[in-house]
Amino acid sequence: MNRLPDQPSARGDAARQAPEGTLSTHTYHRRMDGVSREIRLVGRPTGRPGEELFEVAETTIPDPTDGHFLVRNAYFSVDPYMRPRVGDARAYVAPHTLGEAMSGGAVGRVAISRHPDFVEGEWVLHMLGWREWALSDGKYVWKVDPTVAPVSTALGVLGIPGFTAYYGLHEIGRLQPGETVFVSGASGAVGSAAGQMAKIAGCRALGCASSPEKVSWLRELGFDGVFDYREQPVQQALADLAPKGLDLYFDNVGGEHLEAAIGAMRNHGRIVACGVMSRYGDSEPSAPLNLFMVVTKRLRMEGFLISDHVDRFPGYVAAASQWVREGRLRYRETVIDGIENAPAAFAGALRGDSIGKMLVKVGPTEDS
Ligand SMILES: NC(=O)c1ccc[n+]([C@@H]2O[C@H](COP(=O)([O-])OP(=O)(O)OC[C@H]3O[C@@H](n4cnc5c(N)ncnc54)[C@H](OP(=O)(O)O)[C@@H]3O)[C@@H](O)[C@H]2O)c1
Repeated sequence: MNRLPDQPSARGDAARQAPEGTLSTHTYHRRMDGVSREIRLVGRPTGRPGEELFEVAETTIPDPTDGHFLVRNAYFSVDPYMRPRVGDARAYVAPHTLGEAMSGGAVGRVAISRHPDFVEGEWVLHMLGWREWALSDGKYVWKVDPTVAPVSTALGVLGIPGFTAYYGLHEIGRLQPGETVFVSGASGAVGSAAGQMAKIAGCRALGCASSPEKVSWLRELGFDGVFDYREQPVQQALADLAPKGLDLYFDNVGGEHLEAAIGAMRNHGRIVACGVMSRYGDSEPSAPLNLFMVVTKRLRMEGFLISDHVDRFPGYVAAASQWVREGRLRYRETVIDGIENAPAAFAGALRGDSIGKMLVKVGPTEDS
């Protein structure tokens, strides 16, 4: 077995040798049994992906060599972009390799560092995904300030989802104060941030979700107009809430929501094409039926991939941290405990079970 320096093999040793609550790498090491669990993709979906696509595997915690560091993960993220990745068709990201641990956003603490830029005890955001321990070479890693907000927010409102909302609204959507903005998938990680950021920018924010509880949370967040799209057709709701039309549509959903929004846009309105939650399971591409209205209304519709803009991410975190501190940007998390429950979390997120950011908790957030 791979051994870390000063690492006894049993948890009983930890209790004897390290006082409770001691903050040191030794505390981490002495409490671990040398095993790291990870979630591997072992099948391809034929329809909606289920838990049977994954297995929990055990592996040995790696030893970092020079230029590397070891992270003990506290949380990892379950994201919609993982849906196309578990299939075998090439989307904008390559399909995930069968038999390998799922990649994706995770936040954890440096346990052992042999890298000049990372110090033991620091919190980091990285992309090494669904595992308890991760070995990093420092690429695609951002430091996380645990004094701003709980470290889990580095995967949500202060992470890529929040940044996606910000970049989409301001850089792609060119949002102006006083405009009317509609956000679909508004109770999700991106949508909830987008609606609040539209308010911060001095706009009127409309949003929709699929249950009374989600709709009520949108009201709490300050959305000016909200509806349950399972209770009311989107087209009708938009006609009621925005009789003069929409200036900007932030599209997380595609399909019927997009079609209804095109119908509700003002001339020269803009559509930010962020994602197509309602269509990720489709085997055939589908389009809105009223695309000609994009022409007649002289709309601008622009898609984007936030991975093209990661150089702007630290600037976003600095600005959004201030909003979070001031209580102007709020968030909610659905946390599933235990790495073995990650497949269920993934299936649940695709069903729309989560409110706010869906996370899996896999390790300690405290100093012990
Ligand atoms: N372009 C980029 O670079 C980029 C980056 C990150 C995310 N995204 C996209 O942004 C979107 C939101 O991501 P997220 O991280 O916020 O995901 P999320 O937290 O899982 O939220 C997604 C929301 O979509 C809604 N939804 C699910 N199925 C739906 C359906 N059939 N019809 C209508 N609404 C549905 C769900 O709410 P309800 O229960 O209310 O339906 C859920 O709240 C996704 O499309 C994702 O792919 C794009």
